[in-house]
Amino acid sequence: MSTLQLAVIGGDGIGPEVVAEGLKVLRAAAGGDLTVETTEYDLGARRWHATGETLPASVLEELRGHDAILLGAIGDPSVPSGVLERGVLLPIRFALEHYVNLRPAKLYPGVRSPLDVAHVAPGGIDFVVVREGTEGPYVGNGGSMRTGTPNEVATEVSINTRFGVERVVRDAFARAQARPRQHLTLVHKHNVLVNAGHLWRRTVEEVGAEFPDVETAYQHVDAATIFLATDPGRFDVIVTDNLFGDIITDIAGAIVGGIGLAASGNVNPDRTAPSMFEPVHGSAPDIAGQGKADPTATVLSVALLLDHLGRADDARRVEAAVEADLAERGDAPRSTSQVGDAIASRLA
Ligand code: IPM
Ligand code: MN
Repeated sequence: MSTLQLAVIGGDGIGPEVVAEGLKVLRAAAGGDLTVETTEYDLGARRWHATGETLPASVLEELRGHDAILLGAIGDPSVPSGVLERGVLLPIRFALEHYVNLRPAKLYPGVRSPLDVAHVAPGGIDFVVVREGTEGPYVGNGGSMRTGTPNEVATEVSINTRFGVERVVRDAFARAQARPRQHLTLVHKHNVLVNAGHLWRRTVEEVGAEFPDVETAYQHVDAATIFLATDPGRFDVIVTDNLFGDIITDIAGAIVGGIGLAASGNVNPDRTAPSMFEPVHGSAPDIAGQGKADPTATVLSVALLLDHLGRADDARRVEAAVEADLAERGDAPRSTSQVGDAIASRLA
């Protein structure tokens, strides 16, 4: 029997509620041969109001000592926008080298897409976005001059290093190679963002030479949003920068049944630090504490966690339990814990 040391960050809003269900399912999936030991970290709005702290250095060091991290959501309207996002979530992604932000999009049987995808059979949407997680416009390389005056100037300079682009592109190629369709689409905007865009393009071309089986395509991000809405079946693996990836994974979530089902992994493929798994959705403060949130995205993030930890069979069992639950979901509303119980009981 082995032990999984899991750091748990419930965070803000519905975060703690959905994480509780994720843990329930994780424990059910682990069964007898894996003990899950959790350490809870109080990060987010409550801590900031109480202490002014976002992510103390000592907490970041403790996080490093775990096998993985499960996160609910970070962000709250009672805290100035950006303080928690830039103070808690992004520093974890950056410090733990979560350069692969993995976001699968799969249309499961029985799930209706809000778009008219009558022409898409169940299984007809099955792609994964490899979103770069440590660079781009997210790095905080910018500033504001003459703030609040008519002459204000604000910059957010996107950072794209050859090292950073190459490592995420290589990971995306490896994922594409391992999938049946072996197709990779680079999404960028190289007709306008010529410096970063050409670095990404050249890198895809050069790394692609190592993966002769993988067919590559390119789309500008604006055109990609059209195809995500009209012909999502064309995508297999998408690789893209941090901000484009943020935007298109919300669309991707929407077309496969809503953001309540969208899972993600902030993955450090080199395993030099723990990876962190979290639903794509935010803290949804409007429904927090009411037991209304759908924990499915967190449960599917737990499947990604298990897969990352080398427990592919358990991951598949969790996904199958979710799939079975989705196929039988009627329109009657269920509470957060009812959904968690229903999925967990299928694993018993
Ligand atoms: C996400 C979120 C975050 C992001 C925010 C909360 C900083 O939108 O995980 O997609 O932009 O990466
Ligand atoms: Mn987002």
